[in-house]
Amino acid sequence: MRDIFIAANWKMNGDLKFAREYATIFWPIKKKDLKVAIAAPYTLLALLKETLDGCPCLLFAQNMHFEDKGAFTGEVSAPMLKELGVDGVIIGHSERRQYFAETDETVLLKTKKALASGLMPIVCVGETLEERDAGKHFEKVRTQVASLFGGISAEDAEKVTVAYEPIWAIGTGRNATPAQAEEMCAYIRSVVREISGDKAADALIIQYGGSVKTSNCAELMAMEDIDGALVGGAGLDPKGICEIIKSSYEAKRG
Ligand code: PGA
Repeated sequence: MRDIFIAANWKMNGDLKFAREYATIFWPIKKKDLKVAIAAPYTLLALLKETLDGCPCLLFAQNMHFEDKGAFTGEVSAPMLKELGVDGVIIGHSERRQYFAETDETVLLKTKKALASGLMPIVCVGETLEERDAGKHFEKVRTQVASLFGGISAEDAEKVTVAYEPIWAIGTGRNATPAQAEEMCAYIRSVVREISGDKAADALIIQYGGSVKTSNCAELMAMEDIDGALVGGAGLDPKGICEIIKSSYEAKRG
């Protein structure tokens, strides 16, 4: 049985005061088969490492560079994140692909670096509304997934989390229906099965992301191939995200 994995992506939100207050309220349920992560801006990672000490929660960054160091002004590397005690990193979020020219190539390089550095990667994939309307959503996601899993070993594939985030559902309040989300997550698992084999496909944690909230998380999590969620907006409310974590866990484990 795969672990359940819920991650809150703060995006470019929060200051020191917000992070301090959040850490006093945020306390998710603790279960052996449940992983929880907060993905915060770089500037808040050191503070959160300290204030969330003892909390059943992993600390994630939202991006990193694929080189360890050098002349890459404005970038942050895997060793820098490791030094802060960061556990993992989101790679290839659609906002990074859209606004910061991330490609399947850089996503692969970053994922390899994260794996080699002992950082857990959450790699995001997903189609635009135009691609879905044109019936090209499976093709788009297959390209993204195949580029990633074709470039790493089957052993490493087991350590990757994939977040399926249809771009038309991010921040729009319009989530994919549980059937739409399940259809794509099952497809992603089948593509990974083709490329990396049964063991990796069966172990792969797949999250759904896109307007996940308290009112829809249970029905999404009840789907067989959805193992968790990548939550944006709703993750900024520390009480709300704890409710999402609890009801997701209950929906999955019954
Ligand atoms: P949302 O964002 O929950 O605000 O739609 C999800 C994400 O972008 O990870």
